[in-house]
Amino acid sequence: MQISSFFPTVIGLDKLDLNINDIKELINIVYKLEKDEKNKNYNQSSMTIHGYHTSLSILTIERPVIQKLKQELKRVYNEYYKTHTGLKLPENVYFYGWGMISPKCAMSKPHVHPNSLISSAFYIKVPKDLKPSEGEFNIQDPRPAATFGFSDLVGPNLHSIKPEAGNIAIFPSWLEHFVTPHSSEEDRISIAINCSYDKGENGIKIK
Ligand SMILES: [Fe+2]
Repeated sequence: MQISSFFPTVIGLDKLDLNINDIKELINIVYKLEKDEKNKNYNQSSMTIHGYHTSLSILTIERPVIQKLKQELKRVYNEYYKTHTGLKLPENVYFYGWGMISPKCAMSKPHVHPNSLISSAFYIKVPKDLKPSEGEFNIQDPRPAATFGFSDLVGPNLHSIKPEAGNIAIFPSWLEHFVTPHSSEEDRISIAINCSYDKGENGIKIK
């Protein structure tokens, strides 16, 4: 029998080659942006509850640590794309990245990243006292009919990824996902990145 797997959903997990000081610097950049933008009238994402996301694309900041981050992003996006398609990541794609601070009880509702090709969540701060299922990145089965009850054939309807500082989860932008709330007094902080053929307002190419 020839078995085929149609409509695969490919998820990549990796660790970015950034050291503790790099990660600390990224955390400070996100907190500084929060402070600077607090009094401005920026558009908060309707997908995030209680959380904050930067309006500025972090990838446009000119600092050595951001340059390092961009090179690491290029590496993992290239690897993901090549594994997925067998091809090199096209040259004409743009990257956009925003910081997200999730204090106690913050969460993201189920959503996709429109007008984008490949998205990712890079974790830079994860509370040490997260309870099971708290602050997790959850992927729902993207096949609508797979929830009709044939679970022995389709497997679980939900996959959860536990965040770890320094790790990145990379996924197709059309894939619906959500983040569960947490009860820690510490913030959970991530940087989300879209890679798109659409430059948008602040998309940049990574050389
Ligand atoms: Fe998202």
